[in-house]
Amino acid sequence: MSDQLFTKLIDETKALFHEKYGESPSVLVAAPGRVNLIGEHTDYNGGYVFPMAIERYTVIAAKPTSADVATIYSHNTGETAPFAISGEIKPADKVRWTSYVQGTIACALEKGAKVGGFNAVINSSVPLGGGLSSSASLEVAVATLMEALSGVKFGKTEKPLLCQKAEHVFAKMACGIMDQFISALGEKDRAMLLDCRSQEPKMIPLEDPEVSVLITNSNVKHQLTGSEYPERRASCEEAAHRLGVSLLRDVSFDTLMANRAKLLDDQHGDRLFKRARHAIGEDVRTLAMADALVKGEWRVVGEQMYASHDSLRDDYEVSCREIDILVEIARKIGFDGGVIGSRITGGGFGGCTVSLVRTDKVDEISERYIREYKAQTGIDATIFSTRAAQGARVLQE
Ligand code: GLA
Repeated sequence: MSDQLFTKLIDETKALFHEKYGESPSVLVAAPGRVNLIGEHTDYNGGYVFPMAIERYTVIAAKPTSADVATIYSHNTGETAPFAISGEIKPADKVRWTSYVQGTIACALEKGAKVGGFNAVINSSVPLGGGLSSSASLEVAVATLMEALSGVKFGKTEKPLLCQKAEHVFAKMACGIMDQFISALGEKDRAMLLDCRSQEPKMIPLEDPEVSVLITNSNVKHQLTGSEYPERRASCEEAAHRLGVSLLRDVSFDTLMANRAKLLDDQHGDRLFKRARHAIGEDVRTLAMADALVKGEWRVVGEQMYASHDSLRDDYEVSCREIDILVEIARKIGFDGGVIGSRITGGGFGGCTVSLVRTDKVDEISERYIREYKAQTGIDATIFSTRAAQGARVLQE
């Protein structure tokens, strides 16, 4: 089923290229979106994340030209724009889709991936702004295109890091490393346990056919990139500083509790303490979930997912009513009804939940999520199940 969707996306992108430029593309690349199973808001604290790539992709079809710029059409926005491929490239004031593309081109050039002019079409099946890393998949697809066109092969961690830099500098979002790492390095039927301090990924099999990953889009998006994300980051940095370390990853739960008073003051109340409690507790939960997954201890897996959700809701305060409703529906169906666990996924304030469910119950559970969510919010949720997918690749060059 999902292979068919991928083939359809590629065929559509080739046809769009032909329509737009009157010839066939010579290069085709793809990079997936991601879902994070657990380990949220830990990457910028040097902690652990546990994402997998999903069967939703940003595909780019391209062909070199003799021009001295790149011309790129985005099927998702319906816009065509020119992009500089040499000289000093500066970020634009206003962040748009072009910022991600131009930023990645600039950072790839900086790393020596020299290219001539080219025409391209971008086409993505990753829901935009849904918390499934549509931006990272776009950056990683562009970086992969730059590799294919230049013949330069970036190092394993060099590629995601240059994409992260593009996001920081050109999209002005101070994200961690999770999204770009998993989009670049994901593997089929594997989730990635990533130590964000050492940047060492460990691939964990996720291939039991009796268990499915269900992604439910709440179809609501509250403000995230504005002030909330940097505010959370700054709180963690302040908490780490007061605890005498540079990353919260280096604080144990016991040390946190023993030093609680250092994080309390009139200005923040107990906010710094709660943010730190989430970040530190989430590392413990992430390792516990990965371990339980390897052992097939599904109840433990589920408990960690729900505990992660509760912590993100209460201590980190990045959930919202609609997402909480979806997770409560999952909890109500329960383990015996086929839901192993469920939680908010991604940056927060809307977007998606991720649930692990029994494969034979996927249809029944999806139908119930949609029905009960609509009854409580008036909003239509969208759902799909996915297997862990392969990361970025060149399909044709
Ligand atoms: C966004 C960021 C990631 C990560 C998550 C929260 O997706 O891009 O780096 O911080 O939020 O886990």
